[in-house]
Amino acid sequence: MERDLLRVLLTEKDIQTRIKELGREITRDYVGRRLHLVSVLKGSVTFLTDLMRAIDLPLTIDFMAVSSYGQGVKTSGVVQVIKDLSDPLEGKDVLIVEDVLDTGLTLTYITELLQAKDAASIKVCALLNKPGRRHPSVTIAPDYEGFVIPDEFVVGYGLDYAELYRNLPYIGVLDPRVYKA
Ligand code: IMP
Ligand code: MG
Repeated sequence: MERDLLRVLLTEKDIQTRIKELGREITRDYVGRRLHLVSVLKGSVTFLTDLMRAIDLPLTIDFMAVSSYGQGVKTSGVVQVIKDLSDPLEGKDVLIVEDVLDTGLTLTYITELLQAKDAASIKVCALLNKPGRRHPSVTIAPDYEGFVIPDEFVVGYGLDYAELYRNLPYIGVLDPRVYKA
C-alpha cells in the first residue's frame, strides 16, 4: 500500500497526540452535559474509537451512513442516507465526528437533518479540514478540528480510496496515478 502514496502527511504519533488534545478540550467543554457522539460511517470510525477514549466523561455513541463519493475522488453533491441513527437525539448534546471536511456538502446535509431532531446542541468535530476545497454554498466550519490540510486526496486512518487504505495507521497523500489509471 505504501508505494501508492506520494508521502506521509500525518504520522501515527501526530494523529494520536492531537487526538489527546482534542479529547481534553471536549472533556472541558462538555462537563455536566449529555455528550452523544455521532460517527459518520465509514471513514470516521477509526477517529471515533480513539477520540472517545480520549474523552473523560460519560458519553454515548451512534452511527449513521451517507453516500456522497461512490468510488471516485470528487463529491457528487448528492447525499443519500444509507443508514439512519439508532437512538433518538432529544435533549442530547450531539457532537458529529467526521473524518474530513472537504466541500462541506455532506456535513451541511447531515447537520440540517439532525437539526430537525430536537437535540440540545449540535457541534462538529472533524479530524481533517481542507478549507481550500469548500463549496461556495457552504457556510459550515468545524467546532473542533484536528488538522488543517492542503487540497490533496489523502488516505489512511479510516480514509479510503475505492474502499482501500483505511487500515493504514497514518495518513498519506495518494499518488494521483492510482486514481487516474
Ligand atoms: P464533502 O461533502 O466534500 O465535505 O465530503 C466529505 C466526505 O468525502 C468525507 O467524509 C470523506 O468520506 C470523503 N473525502 C473527502 N476528501 C477526502 C480525501 O482526501 N480522502 C478520502 N476521502 C475524502
Ligand atoms: Mg466520510
